[in-house]
Amino acid sequence: MTFFKWLNLFIIFSSILFATPIFSDSTSSFTSNAIPKFLDLAKEPKVFDWMVDIRRKIHENPELGYEEFETSELIRTKLDQLGISYKHPVAVTGVIGYIGTGLPPFVALRADMDALPMQELLEWEHKSKVPGKMHACGHDAHVAMLLGAAKILKEHEKDLQGTVVLVFQPAEEGGCGAKKILDAGVLENVSAIFGLHVLHNIPLGEVASRSGPIFAGNGFFEATISGRGGHAALPQHSIDPILAVSNVIVSLQQIISREIDPLDSQVVTVAKIRGGGAFNVIPDSVTIGGTFRAFSKESFMQLRHRIEQVITGQAAVQRCNATVNFFDEEKPIFPPTVNDGGLHDYFQTVARSLLGADKVKGMQPMMGGEDFAFYQEALPGYIFLLGMEEVSVERLPSGHSPYFKVNEDALPYGAALHASLASRYLVKLHQEVPVVEGKYHDEL
Ligand SMILES: *[C@@H]1O[C@H](CO)[C@@H](O)[C@H](O)[C@H]1NC(C)=O
Ligand SMILES: *[C@@H]1O[C@H](CO)[C@@H](O)[C@H](O)[C@H]1NC(C)=O
Repeated sequence: MTFFKWLNLFIIFSSILFATPIFSDSTSSFTSNAIPKFLDLAKEPKVFDWMVDIRRKIHENPELGYEEFETSELIRTKLDQLGISYKHPVAVTGVIGYIGTGLPPFVALRADMDALPMQELLEWEHKSKVPGKMHACGHDAHVAMLLGAAKILKEHEKDLQGTVVLVFQPAEEGGCGAKKILDAGVLENVSAIFGLHVLHNIPLGEVASRSGPIFAGNGFFEATISGRGGHAALPQHSIDPILAVSNVIVSLQQIISREIDPLDSQVVTVAKIRGGGAFNVIPDSVTIGGTFRAFSKESFMQLRHRIEQVITGQAAVQRCNATVNFFDEEKPIFPPTVNDGGLHDYFQTVARSLLGADKVKGMQPMMGGEDFAFYQEALPGYIFLLGMEEVSVERLPSGHSPYFKVNEDALPYGAALHASLASRYLVKLHQEVPVVEGKYHDEL
């Protein structure tokens, strides 16, 4: 007998024993009418001030990917205080928390924890205390919002119709922390995963998302083009890698303009170039490096293939040799982030009832990458953008700016959305289990 059949038996028994069906939507506090209450709850000082305090503590002490030791400890302290059990360490610094029955179904919520290697330039009371490190992508707020959701859900634990899995993930910024979390096997029986990202130019209280590809897959490359150095006035005795690299860079742009479907957006950018050091010397070699982006795995792999061909082929035209490195070991490719279509419909229903129909917007795909994509390769996943902008107050700088600023008034929205998405999803999973009552009564 499957677990769900046992569960149904249990529900029927419980219904008989307690007269009211404990898992029925009509008595659960997670009916659609009740959802806005999560937002009210998240705005109360006991949740809001608590989240603000956590967010500021993490902001003052930013830690890079796989070094989030103190951030991880802070998270565990808060989970201990809430009486929430967890697994640690997962993926070096990651923490996986559990709220609910401890039984299936499982639904996961994800927050990334890492900071960026850059100096904060904004002067304020809770500025980064670590030189050269900064939370400039809002991950401090993401952690605070997931803890806020945990606090709300813990208060409603008896109403949860399964288990909410809290994923505090390390190393989103290029470290593939999501992949390490998956490899650890902790999401094995999880039915769906939700994530969010704050955005500076979406109004506060609004969300934006889309079905299908939302963020591009991204990869990096570095190439060394070798010639033969010599006197700059006697080019006939040298093989000039500077001229070869010039042709390589131009040809790389022609892949995008001449070879791919203009409606299948892709990018190749050569972002660095290093070679030569004197006015009158042709150098031995030149190194270039950059990034490439695409919205499907096929386009991405074709682009990667052509980048290598064009670099080596174009170098050869100029009598140079070239080697191309895609950092497969250190920086596995981020696949495109593709939102599940069914979860999109579900998200819209929940977000509309929480925020109001006019606050739930669509969006164009963005070329930035997200390691949330790894989860979506393994299970249905959905990520959305959470607005922070209040034009009447100020214009916020974009993510990865040294002046990046989180509008803390966005925290309750993130916490309430997380809590609603997870709790309602467990209800939905139960409703989808086919119940043939007569049959089970016969078995009883
Ligand atoms: C997933 O479910 C299977 C079958 O019930 C179980 O053996 C396994 O331990 C579960 N994995 C996790 C991570 O809970
Ligand atoms: C390119 O590689 C070949 C084979 O290793 C070598 O013979 C040749 O000298 C190299 N050319 C340059 C310009 O480095």
